[in-house]
Amino acid sequence: MYIHERDKAVLRRYLDQNLKAILQEPSLPPETKSRVIYDSCLSRIENLWETPGAKLIENGKQVFRLTVDYMLDLSRHGVQHMIRMISYDQSVYTHSVNVGLLGTVLAKEALGGSDPDLHEIGYAMFLHDIGKTKIDYSILAKPGRLSDSEWEQMRRHPELGYQILCEEGHMNPAAAITTLQHHERFNGKGYPGNLLGSEIDPLGRICHLVDSFDALLATRPYKPAFPPFKALQMIKDDVEDPLGWEIFEKFVGLLR
Ligand SMILES: [Fe+2]
Repeated sequence: MYIHERDKAVLRRYLDQNLKAILQEPSLPPETKSRVIYDSCLSRIENLWETPGAKLIENGKQVFRLTVDYMLDLSRHGVQHMIRMISYDQSVYTHSVNVGLLGTVLAKEALGGSDPDLHEIGYAMFLHDIGKTKIDYSILAKPGRLSDSEWEQMRRHPELGYQILCEEGHMNPAAAITTLQHHERFNGKGYPGNLLGSEIDPLGRICHLVDSFDALLATRPYKPAFPPFKALQMIKDDVEDPLGWEIFEKFVGLLR
């Protein structure tokens, strides 16, 4: 079935109103439900990126709450099916959805499924790059290398995203830290805080791993798409401490 570009809002409304019923429908196979979840998230992310604001962030919470519930209830087989279904392209929308889905499941595994804020954490994973909506489009779309001043602007997106989530999304800062720290690196060479090792919240580290994995698997103007095994090897080379290993091993376990 094809949906015309001008009818996307109609489809989005339909999914908003019916997503819960679709996911509860016993006659639908899990593969269909996973596809509906993926497309709903994609549609909502596109909408949020086109016109981010407090109202849209609030509206989005319903879709992402249902998505997080769905992901947390999925069997191991269901998670692996979802991972196989993920598409890796250059779009910031698919990247956001992929990080949201993988990051939510990894956060559950790494935090023992006990964190009461998993809904907010999952939402922060989906919106980890929302700060880029405040960056000049010419910088985001630039095919070549960024100049120093452009790179300086780009490096502000985690802080800008954190502000959006806390101020417009009324998100708990303890969950929004996922967004703030998703480019911090254990060796202190990350941004925006150049935080070292244990100064980085586990949520920031989980989001960083998933963000790196998805970026490595996608084709970008400056690099080819790496196969998953190669991407995992490259990520593994950066692991330096017991918590990093634990998160890495949980992630590999999800892909197995
Ligand atoms: Fe980012």
